[in-house]
Amino acid sequence: MTKDKGEKTHMLQFKLMIVALIIVAICPATAFVAEYEKKGAEKMSLYGGSRGPVPFPHLKHQKALNDCNVCHGVFDQQAGSIEKLKQEGKLVKKQVMNKQCIKCHRTAKKEDKSSGPTSCKKCHIKNNSR
Ligand code: HEC
Ligand code: HEC
Ligand code: HEC
Repeated sequence: MTKDKGEKTHMLQFKLMIVALIIVAICPATAFVAEYEKKGAEKMSLYGGSRGPVPFPHLKHQKALNDCNVCHGVFDQQAGSIEKLKQEGKLVKKQVMNKQCIKCHRTAKKEDKSSGPTSCKKCHIKNNSR
């Protein structure tokens, strides 16, 4: 009698333990997905005016720089935010290009670190208007 009860309690404890383990396993996974989604697109194409669009490897920069604010201290984590700020007069044309993109690539190059393009043609993809 008491033995039966004991076994049932053990079974219940076992089931509770499984449930607890599943919860522990799922939570970090959902947290990770949420974190990943907030990081935005891996690759994007930025508006580059008459010079043509600028392909931008976003994820590569996130990994290489490990700091969102070098860019997002200047414009929001939102698609189209650079153009929006330019239209509102809060950013000058080519400001991000010169003060973020090119400046950082030049500095990295000087320091012999891995870097990105510094010439017009390597950033702006040729289009028909040029
Ligand atoms: C080297 C510059 C740079 C760094 C570093 C950077 N981003 Fe971005 N991010 C951009 C640019 C450029 C855009 C596009 C802005 C636009 O369209 O005007 C963007 C857009 C975004 C967007 C919106 C676009 C989308 O696909 O939803 C999110 C979200 C975002 N970034 C998150 C992050 C996070 C989080 C980090 C840090 C882990 C980060 N970014 C680091 C340059 C950067
Ligand atoms: C490292 C990449 C990079 C290089 C190198 C670069 N650009 Fe850009 N350029 C951009 C980005 C990103 C934008 C959009 C953001 C901005 O306006 O700051 C842009 C914007 C522009 C615009 C459009 C501005 C507007 O709002 O109408 C022109 C024109 C332009 N670049 C010309 C040039 C010329 C000319 C060179 C070479 C002397 C050059 N770019 C080199 C990345 C680059
Ligand atoms: C604070 C520094 C920093 C800023 C700001 C920055 N970059 Fe870069 N960029 C890098 C580094 C570092 C690399 C080399 C990454 C690697 O090789 O892993 C790179 C590489 C690149 C590459 C070449 C990627 C490849 O696959 O070879 C492109 C294109 C590029 N950047 C475009 C841009 C544009 C456009 C902007 C502005 C919107 C920008 N970068 C802003 C540091 C920066």
